[in-house]
Amino acid sequence: MTKNNNLIVLIGMMGTGKSTVGSLLADELGYRLVDLDAMIVAEAGCSIPEMFELKGEAYFRDLETVVLNTVLQERNVVLATGGGAVLRQENCGLMKDNSWVVALSATADEILSRVGEDANRPLLAGGARERITTLLEERKHAYSFAHVTIDTSGKSAEQVSAEILMHYRG
Ligand code: S3P
Repeated sequence: MTKNNNLIVLIGMMGTGKSTVGSLLADELGYRLVDLDAMIVAEAGCSIPEMFELKGEAYFRDLETVVLNTVLQERNVVLATGGGAVLRQENCGLMKDNSWVVALSATADEILSRVGEDANRPLLAGGARERITTLLEERKHAYSFAHVTIDTSGKSAEQVSAEILMHYRG
């Protein structure tokens, strides 16, 4: 594990609070918050649903790996990744070697109440509850390579951020 790079990467399913918690964490540490999805959208010049529809998920995943590689060279950064950034082993190895990786988890009910029927998340199209249950099952081991895992269910973003800081500084 490396905390020396001053680079914290948040991983976890959609709706586990990566962006909200990341923002609090970055403020507290005086780091910059980087949102991987936002960088991909800027690079591609179109929204995530458009990308999935017009170019396919593989195009999005390729861009995700390229942008991740770039951000992992940075310092004094909290990086909020998209829920599927862990689907490639290559990405996991890079995150693990270059940053301190925190996995956020939550129950299906909690995720559903946070994301609802979100039109900006193509992988939830066709019924968010079923899709969340399926993805949680498919990805049940995908986040376990993290240096620390924090269950966010029933906790505020402030609580989660404080918990992460305790581990980071401890
Ligand atoms: C995805 C999660 C999304 C986004 C894309 C794919 C996934 O990010 O990257 O829609 O595969 O879980 P969030 O986790 O920020 O919703």
